[in-house]
Order: sequence, then structure tokens, then C-alpha cells
Amino acid sequence: MLGLLILLVIIFALVIGLDYYNHYKDPRRIIDRIFPGPFRIPIVGNALIAACSREAFYRVYLNLSKSYDYKPFRLWFLKQPYVFISDYENTKKILSSNDLLDKAEDYRYFEPWLGQGLLTSKGDKWRRDRKIITPAFHFQILHRFFQIFYDNGEIFCEKLTAHDGGDVFDVFEYIEMLTLDNLCNAALKLDIQAQLNPFSALVCAIQNMGVVIYNRIFTLWLRYDAMFRLSSTARLQKKCLEIIHGNDVKIIRERKEEMKTKQPKLKTMEFDEKEKVAFLDLLLEMQDDVGYTDEDIREQLDTFMFAGHDTVTATLGFLIYSLAEHPDVQEKVYRELLDIYGESERCPNFSDLQDMKYTEQVIKETLRLYTVVTAVARRVEEDFELSEHQVVPKGVEIVLLLSALHRNPEIFPNPDIFDPDRFSPEVNQERDSFAFVPFSAGSRNCIGQKFAMHEMKITVYKIVKKFKLSISDKPEDKVRTRTGVVLSSTNGIRIKVQSRKKKTPSKLADQ
Ligand SMILES: *[C@@H]1O[C@H](CO)[C@@H](O)[C@H](O)[C@H]1NC(C)=O
Ligand SMILES: *[C@@H]1O[C@H](CO)[C@@H](O)[C@H](O)[C@H]1NC(C)=O
Repeated sequence: MLGLLILLVIIFALVIGLDYYNHYKDPRRIIDRIFPGPFRIPIVGNALIAACSREAFYRVYLNLSKSYDYKPFRLWFLKQPYVFISDYENTKKILSSNDLLDKAEDYRYFEPWLGQGLLTSKGDKWRRDRKIITPAFHFQILHRFFQIFYDNGEIFCEKLTAHDGGDVFDVFEYIEMLTLDNLCNAALKLDIQAQLNPFSALVCAIQNMGVVIYNRIFTLWLRYDAMFRLSSTARLQKKCLEIIHGNDVKIIRERKEEMKTKQPKLKTMEFDEKEKVAFLDLLLEMQDDVGYTDEDIREQLDTFMFAGHDTVTATLGFLIYSLAEHPDVQEKVYRELLDIYGESERCPNFSDLQDMKYTEQVIKETLRLYTVVTAVARRVEEDFELSEHQVVPKGVEIVLLLSALHRNPEIFPNPDIFDPDRFSPEVNQERDSFAFVPFSAGSRNCIGQKFAMHEMKITVYKIVKKFKLSISDKPEDKVRTRTGVVLSSTNGIRIKVQSRKKKTPSKLADQ
């Protein structure tokens, strides 16, 4: 018995000793002297801070940034060191740098699904693809999606009518289906009607892939490929990808057939007034010129689908909740809509959306307080100097904590308060442009940000024009933010809706 105990102690001491030795040899160890950070426990490093609920995890990072006064700090996850940034000077330095364009290792978990699309690709491939794909987001093309957003918004409002005048309900799933329809229509010209058939195999597969990626990033043992392969998460991933990729292949084949009879449009930007376009068609048009395989096209398409779905869904959820929570803000948005559209129900055009200035402030404030892409990460390939001459050594990953950046009280006083006036033109002017970067910034910024802003404005137009939104007083109906691939709410988005139009009195209807 005693022998066994001694053996265990020796093994334990050896393991710890080996860890210290490895750590001692690791040249990246100098970050411990450059940046403050909590005590590094042998072997696991600071990974135990992740051993908590997803709700608490969101707070952990915000609290850490606060306790280090929004200055850079470091953490070790197992053997990997990270430097966390939540000040705008360093954010600017990092996002403007041409040496820090490659995303961090964690993005590899997206690869089975997204391959080497714009989100995940590196170096020259990324540079080339970004150049090729940028024209697909030209405003001449974007305004062709307004009708899609408008029509799907109409179906969305019809769905909400079932709750008119009723008690609180969770609107999140309705939003999820709305944004999925918007994307499938715009990217693929595919009418899956997710709002009407929310349980179709494709819809479920896309939803489940979010779960898979979350599990891989935040469950420590699933980060090891060998362990992952044995898990039920891997089986779920396989099943979902068969459905998603199978669907892509089928659509690409069908659309190619159709394209044979059509004139290319992208080069000339000459479209018929009412003609519908889709990203897929634009990619197929370029295919031969740029030498893309069908697989390359599939990867870019899936990237649009992924990057444009959860992000917009989550933001719209928090946006609708914020409008419901702040009746005064909602009323101001409604007044603005009346000023622009009057009593008409027309589909907005470019100048209408530009005129929705207060609505835009409300969306920006939502993106600040509920920054759904809470962080972006970069791999340091060559030593990188931050402001104040702090050098991040090669092999470290830099994480920009956008949600903490957006809560720095020096830039956003009373950061926990929802206040769209922070984005009024006067206040905006005085703030450094890198202090608010919900779509990231620099050359790797979000290519779809205009697409997303238009989509959100048109949805707000539809819903606020038709309904008065409110929340209940019960604490269990309040949003509870939690980390995920994007920020979400543990208990959904619980609101009440009340139609603004007075119902026709039943006496009249009887006549
Ligand atoms: C974060 O800080 C707040 C306020 O200081 C505290 O109430 C909360 O428990 C902290 N949360 C975590 C997860 O550390
Ligand atoms: C947008 O629509 C309004 C109302 O129909 C119209 O007055 C305005 O000229 C249009 N703007 C553009 C840029 O088409």
C-alpha cells in the first residue's frame, strides 16, 4: 500500500517536473515577464477558468479585462499561450498590420465544414480569394437582396401574428428561420422556406453544425483530433456535413446547367430591373476565369452561409429584445419609419435605408453591448510589437476581446447601459474608429457587413412598423448572455407583441 503511494507521488512529481522543464525551455515563456496574468498551473495552465457555465464564461473574460484595466494580459491554455487585447490602440495596431493576417489555430475546427473559404484561408490564397469575391458584394448587387429581406420579413411578421396581444414567447427560433431563408435565397437562390418548414433536414444540419463547432472549441478533450474522432460530436458532424455538402453539390450542378443558357452579368453589372441574383451565380460566372473548382465554390458558399447566419440571427435577437426593453427607443425608431415611409408598406430602396439613421444607431448600440463575435484571434508568426514596446513572441496567439473593447468605460461611459445616442454623429466623430469594430476592421474585416446591416434594417422596418414590442417584468424572461461560437441567450429572446393597427371592430366585420 505504502509502496503504491510512494510510486504515485514519484509519478506525480515527475509529471510536474517534466512540465516545468518543458515550460522552462519554451521561448514563448517570456510573455510571463512582459504581460500580467493569473498564476499558471502546471500542465493545464489557466484552462480551468473555462471550467464553468457558458454564462459565467462570458463574464470571466469581461472581468479579467476589467481587472487588468483593459491593458494586455496573458493566459496559458495547456501549452498554448495567448495574449488578450481590449484597448483600441493595440486593436488598431493589430488589425491594420499586414504581418498579422493569419487567423489563429482555433479556426481549424471550421475546416471540415468551410474548407478554405474566406473565413479560414491563409496567406496568398486568402488575398487572392478576397479580391475575387469582393465584386459579389458590390452595391449594385446588394440592393437586389432588399426584396428578399422584405418578403421574408413579411412571412416573419405573419408568424408573429399568432402571438399578437398574447403573453411572452421566445422569438429566437423565428429569427433563426428568417435569416436562414434570407441567406438561402441570396446565396443560393434556394427557396427552402425554413420559416414554413423549420424542421427540414437541411435546416437541422446547419443548426447542429453550430453545436459541433462550439463543442470542439470549448470542450478541452475534443480539441485533440484523436479524441474527437471517437466522440458522438464527430458522428453528428459527419451526418450534418453529408447533408449540407450533398445539398451544395446538387445545387451547384443544377445551377451550372441553367447558366449555360445565360449571359454573364457580373463583369458588366448590367441586370434587368427585377432580376434576382445569387452569390452562387456570380461565383459560377467567374469560375473559369479564376480557375475555381466546384469544391472551391462550395467552400466559399458554405462560408457565406455560416458567417451570415448565426451572427445575424444573434444580433437580430438582441436588437429586437433591446427595442422591446426600451419603449422610448422603439418609439423613436417608429417615428423615423413614419417619417420615411409614411403609411405605405413599400419595399425600401437604398436612400430609404440611408435615411434610417436613428435605427442604425440602435443597431450599432446593440452590436456594442451584445457583440456577437466576442473575439477574433490571430497567430503571431514573427515577433510582434504592441504599443508601449511590449513584444509578443512568435507562436503566441493574440485574441482581440471585442466585447471587452466595447465596454471600456473610458470610451463608453456607463458601458452596461443601452444608449443609442453614443452613436449620434457628434459623439461618433470624437471616437477613434478602432474603438468600435463589431465587424472587425482592416483588410480582414467582414466582407458581408453591408449585407447584414441592410438585412437588419429591413427586418426592423417590417417588425416595428407592424408591432409594438415589450418584455415582461419577470426576471426569468430577461436575456442571459452566454458564450458560444457567437454570443447567445440561455433562455432565448422572450418578448410580447401587440399589433399597432387597431383590429376592425367585429360589428363592422359582421355586416
Ligand atoms: C464578474 O464580476 C462581477 C462584478 O464584479 C461579479 O459579480 C461576478 O461574479 C464576476 N463573474 C465571474 C464569472 O467572475
Ligand atoms: C426610393 O423610393 C422613394 C419613394 O418611392 C423615392 O422617392 C426615391 O427617389 C427612391 N430613391 C432611389 C434612390 O431610388
